[in-house]
Amino acid sequence: MNDLFRDVESVQTGLRATGYIADPSVATTVYLARCLGKPILAEGPAGVGKTELAKAIAAAMSAELIRLQCYEGLDEAKTLYEWMYPKQLLYTQMLRDKIGDVVAGAATLSDAVDRIAAHEDAFFSERFLTPRPLLQAIRAEKPAVLLIDEVDRAEDELEAFFLEVLAEYQVTVPELGTMTARHRPIVVLTSNNTRELSDALRRRCLYLYMTYPGPDREAEILATRVPGIESELAHSVAEFVQRLRNLDLKKTPSISETIDWARALVLLSAETLGDELVTRTLNLLLKYEGDIETAKSSVSSLLDASAGTGQRRAGPG
Ligand SMILES: Nc1ncnc2c1ncn2[C@@H]1O[C@H](COP(=O)(O)OP(=O)(O)O)[C@@H](O)[C@H]1O
Ligand SMILES: [Mg+2]
Repeated sequence: MNDLFRDVESVQTGLRATGYIADPSVATTVYLARCLGKPILAEGPAGVGKTELAKAIAAAMSAELIRLQCYEGLDEAKTLYEWMYPKQLLYTQMLRDKIGDVVAGAATLSDAVDRIAAHEDAFFSERFLTPRPLLQAIRAEKPAVLLIDEVDRAEDELEAFFLEVLAEYQVTVPELGTMTARHRPIVVLTSNNTRELSDALRRRCLYLYMTYPGPDREAEILATRVPGIESELAHSVAEFVQRLRNLDLKKTPSISETIDWARALVLLSAETLGDELVTRTLNLLLKYEGDIETAKSSVSSLLDASAGTGQRRAGPG
């Protein structure tokens, strides 16, 4: 694992070994995040490899990936810890007699409550605690990767709470005390940019803007993600999608769609891209009827352009 973070190159190689193709800026950020002990904030459109990056780092480190998926309405308790209320209740039911003994002879109600309170520890102990991702990451026995996914979907207050935890890597459970991370996890926060994140969060993190890869890198991704794809087809697919992304579309195809399309083409035993085949399979790349219509009218020109600079050079002139 130490080898992985020897230098930027090692990070890139290590990620590649897990099937993740990181460009130098991504590998540099991962390397620095580890050296500086800072979280990574990966922002960019859906499907460009933000979540996958965290998974790849964990795989490369052979570390546990602890994932906190954010959504609207997510609250602190679900990110940190919860008491197992039903289990506590069940225990009190089963221990009715014992509890009866404890309060037996209490003169007043408040005396009885005091006596119960003296036994509170028994019910607010590890036995009844469900650690949620942040606490899991802090208590991990070995360095882990903490993925706080789609943080833009959580509310502002929760974002502020993440900041607090990420500042100290420690949390307090009032009944159990303060716990500090034995090993700082590598933290990756992702955002699809559906709302502005706070400056404070940006300041604390290493900011990584991720977008669609260039054609060579996307062809390389296809080579690792699509079993049986020939290099020539991978390049044609990557070139075509690259050009498709320049059209005025409601939903630009992401890497996930490129992979899906390439898998479909392999299944259909395609060796090269032709007008008819591309038109027939556009629904794997585009998810809106309007986008498919827009693309259909440009397929042949996109294919011509994708056929390579060689052809253009041979053209008029
Ligand atoms: N650099 C990459 N190398 C290999 N596969 C990638 C890469 N980037 C994206 N992918 C593929 O694209 C898919 C979508 O990536 P994902 O991480 O889910 O996107 P995001 O979280 O940005 O929405 C992943 O399942 C993965 O297969
Ligand atoms: Mg994601």
